[in-house]
Amino acid sequence: MLAFACTVVVFLGVQATASLSWAESDGSTGYQRLEGHGGPIKGVAISPDGQQMLTASFDYSVGLWSASTGKLIRWLEGHEAAVNAVAFLPGGRALSVGDDFDMIMWDLESGAVLHRFEGHEGKLIGVTPGPDATIAATAGWDGNVGIWPLDGGAARFLKGHGANVNDVVFTPDGAKLYTASYDGTIRRWDTVSGAEEVVLVNHGFGINHLVLNSDAGWLAYGALDGAVRAIDLATGAQIADLTADRRPILALSADPTGRFLAVGDGEGYVMILDTADWSVVRDFRAALSGPIWALAWEPSGKRLLAGGIADEAALWPIDADGDALFAKGPREFHKPPSEMTNGERQFVRKCSVCHTTSPDGGRKAGPTLWRLFGRRAGTVEGYSYSDALARSDIVWSDETVARLFSEGPDVFTPGSKMPVQRIAKAQDRRDLIHYLKENTGGTDRAGHEGRSKTK
Ligand code: HEC
Repeated sequence: MLAFACTVVVFLGVQATASLSWAESDGSTGYQRLEGHGGPIKGVAISPDGQQMLTASFDYSVGLWSASTGKLIRWLEGHEAAVNAVAFLPGGRALSVGDDFDMIMWDLESGAVLHRFEGHEGKLIGVTPGPDATIAATAGWDGNVGIWPLDGGAARFLKGHGANVNDVVFTPDGAKLYTASYDGTIRRWDTVSGAEEVVLVNHGFGINHLVLNSDAGWLAYGALDGAVRAIDLATGAQIADLTADRRPILALSADPTGRFLAVGDGEGYVMILDTADWSVVRDFRAALSGPIWALAWEPSGKRLLAGGIADEAALWPIDADGDALFAKGPREFHKPPSEMTNGERQFVRKCSVCHTTSPDGGRKAGPTLWRLFGRRAGTVEGYSYSDALARSDIVWSDETVARLFSEGPDVFTPGSKMPVQRIAKAQDRRDLIHYLKENTGGTDRAGHEGRSKTK
């Protein structure tokens, strides 16, 4: 499986470079992939000077990359679950938020965690620094908007949305905040008093993203039902409706001039709108299948960084022909489900996004399952386990793996950072275990069994 995936990537890489006459050789203006994450990319950001990029991934880590070379500078490790959004701060710092309910402030030079901001009671899906970067706002699935003094002072929570909050944006002076939620509304708040001032939009379907252009006097939003609309800030009246037949809208980003809007959707397309007349100026497919979750523009406005279901982000020159690039060859990871046994299907669908079965753990969120059977829990070298697994006495066997998924990780390994999931049918569990036994290199007799634990 792994060998197969690698072959395809190498092949595609070579072919893409050879066939893209528009890709300039210095790499700083052409198409570029950011490779290395072990899971889908949920959030992206580009520094204001255009030198660095950040990616937030399902693999629990944040990547810091050079924009000119596309090479990884370092991994930022500290979240205990998927990371959903990232933002640069002045002074070589950044913010990220994740499924662990926390916001982390990073020192980019060293990769150190400068501060962990705790207090939300649900996962965090959006983060926006205030204009002077003394505060930041977070969008939480506990239904709250967090306002955090970045010097570590006490947070304030704005409560009012009846459901998951998906996005927050500040006005340029920082005095007001617009928020979007699954409750279908966009609300405006006073940043200082925390008072809710107005429900600006009541869309009916959940709203995922906002872009504010105060100078031009509009607010654009993208929603679950595929709606892409702009409203007049003063009156709330709709001024444009760019809704296409693709849904949901999962990413929305304005170019540095504020004139062009990039829209990413659940079907893998990126549409670029000229807000001068609200026309569609580009529409290309940036992922063969699956969603585009994250978009960010280079300050030059020439390339767009996109993240989605693939384990890599890509910088797209926006005047290049995206469709042509992807027509070169699909990047297929899995064979059709009809050609798989039930056990393989279970693994591919329920485990492979976070685990490999090969000696190389592949930088996934979870440790490799290579030589799982007979191995003591929490003993893969170099993997950073939760204390719960590191201290566990479980030895993985047919019985313990079955219990992990009949009872669920929350019951069988309480405190584990593996997300709660159960496999209800005994036959599915048996088939999965059979598949794992056949594909993880056999029992680890010489390896970890009986080895004394270091914790
Ligand atoms: C969303 C990511 C995710 C998914 C999906 C997932 N796991 Fe995990 N898994 C993890 C993480 C993270 C850990 C490490 C947990 C810890 O340190 O507490 C883990 C740990 C494990 C362990 C313990 C390994 C060890 O070295 O002790 C086993 C076994 C395991 N997973 C099996 C599975 C199987 C089988 C599936 C599919 C049915 C699955 N996991 C799905 C993230 C995931």
